[in-house]
Amino acid sequence: MEKEISGGGRTSNAKLLAWVREIASLCVPERVYWCDGSREEYDRLCDAMVEAGTFIRLSPKKRPRSFLARSHPSDVARVEERTYICSGRKDDAGPTNNWMAPAEMKTRLRGLFSGSMRRRTMYVIPFSMGPLGSPISHVGVQITDSPYVVVNMHIMTRVGEKVLEVLGDGPFVACLHSVGAPLEPGQRDDPWPCEPDIANKFITHFPETREIWSYGSGYGGNALLGKKCLALRIGSVLARDEGWLAEHMLILGISRPEGKKIYIAAAFPSACGKTNLAMIVPPAGFEGWRTSTVGDDIAWLKPGPDGMLRAINPEAGFFGVAPGTSYESNPVAMDTLKENCIFTNVALTDDGDVWWEGMGPAPKHAIDWQGKDWMPEMKTPAAHPNSRFTAPAAQCPTIDPAWENPQGVPISAFVFGGRLSKTFPLVYESLNWRHGVFMAATMGSEATAAAIGQAAIRRDPFAMLPFAGYHMADYWKHWLGMEPKGLLLPRIFRVNWFRKNENGKFIWPGYGQNMRVVSWIVDRVAGRAGATEIPLGLVPRYEDLNWKGMDFPREKFLDLVDVPREGILSEAEDIKAYFTRFGDRLPRELEGEREELVRRAGGIPES
Ligand code: OXD
Ligand code: MN
Repeated sequence: MEKEISGGGRTSNAKLLAWVREIASLCVPERVYWCDGSREEYDRLCDAMVEAGTFIRLSPKKRPRSFLARSHPSDVARVEERTYICSGRKDDAGPTNNWMAPAEMKTRLRGLFSGSMRRRTMYVIPFSMGPLGSPISHVGVQITDSPYVVVNMHIMTRVGEKVLEVLGDGPFVACLHSVGAPLEPGQRDDPWPCEPDIANKFITHFPETREIWSYGSGYGGNALLGKKCLALRIGSVLARDEGWLAEHMLILGISRPEGKKIYIAAAFPSACGKTNLAMIVPPAGFEGWRTSTVGDDIAWLKPGPDGMLRAINPEAGFFGVAPGTSYESNPVAMDTLKENCIFTNVALTDDGDVWWEGMGPAPKHAIDWQGKDWMPEMKTPAAHPNSRFTAPAAQCPTIDPAWENPQGVPISAFVFGGRLSKTFPLVYESLNWRHGVFMAATMGSEATAAAIGQAAIRRDPFAMLPFAGYHMADYWKHWLGMEPKGLLLPRIFRVNWFRKNENGKFIWPGYGQNMRVVSWIVDRVAGRAGATEIPLGLVPRYEDLNWKGMDFPREKFLDLVDVPREGILSEAEDIKAYFTRFGDRLPRELEGEREELVRRAGGIPES
């Protein structure tokens, strides 16, 4: 039977039309709707979700044109254990990814997708990652049966008719998504339909055919397929094949008084404060300094005609973790969230606003993320720890004037960071590109290994552990391969806001004060700031940082940059064991850097 087809689907792209037909006959939706990306479409879908109980309209006074959604309690985060890279050869997915042969995975998924959209609308969302028509952007088309996904994609990407015009007859990344909850005749829908059995959730990527199939979850990166799935996992494969970089990085603009503006891109593992750094406000002591935000999560970088790497933020919105966001930690984010936002799994206050832990004083009563009464004396959190806001980037008060420049912005420094309580200084600079790649490849955050009673580092190379769409060692090779291209490559730094003293207390205040480190990086790029060499790389001396407006004694600073040689040697041993996971795909240059590190620390390298 012909499906009822509606919406704006003006395209003659034969491949796209054939794919939409094929998926409609597999998933058997009640109707097919092509999204046009209009405000009217957004409002209509939001109204329908209020009607269906998926959305709660927030107080138009407190939070105009904003909504709260509560997910199913089993569907609250990305599911890395159900995320697969289905390359033709297992070896190409590498030791850090789950793998299944493409044909086997497709057979399994066809079984699940068969009839999965019964009595639902199948939405077709043409979207652009990056400004429309930019040489750095890519087009995707997502098919989904979730209106929640459609409206979030409206905020997070550029959606609609104009994308089809840009696409023409060209290639697109096919992104198929179903919440996996077909309806029987007369069955009442759930406000958050999904497949509750984790074993039936699949977030799968087919790098050779540039396809994404995601089944069973309606939450965040599992379902908004432009983000982690396209912009990072498939994006990293496109970048490898086409000679550019797709990275888990924020992009920040900084200018000093009377100085030229520069841009830096910074990678941190999930939940390490990327959004805070992307929106950092210079503190007292930095009069005349300016910062601006290009992106808070993902950067696509291509060599520009001037030889610099030029970056775009492929997204159009922020999908940030709500808890911990406050006027103290991130005033810019708080101002970005004033209107036109979607909140998921935060608490609802009695006056129709939102609240989460760390936002400010707790309300006397609220409705928690599961829809239950909540009082501050209760032990359970009011907002889920991974509750989120979806906010248009354009309404961020510090959004950079060039954030939609199709040519991107030139990047002068890469910054990599993690959570490390010892050994790693507040900031250090690499000795050269190759050393910088080694620093990023071996970065990580601490996870307490209860069994041995001491902190162990969970390596998260380039903050890409869950996001590299191919073999991690080949990804490192790709980065090393940028050097011989004769580009004006960015300088490379590592930062660590999380060093602790012997009493287990953080030494560094972080947040806005991180500007002191950022400004040193800017000054290093401009050749204006000094440094001293330690075995790990180049660190600032006390006098190299701007301490205006902050009382931070020299001895405390020395605790932040002190790196005991034994610590480095044990780190180098740990890296040796870690590198063995990558077998003979490990670039020799990286083992060479490890040996150099041992030598600089006064040890004797044995390879
Ligand atoms: C994110 C993540 O949601 O990195 O950005 O997990
Ligand atoms: Mn992220």
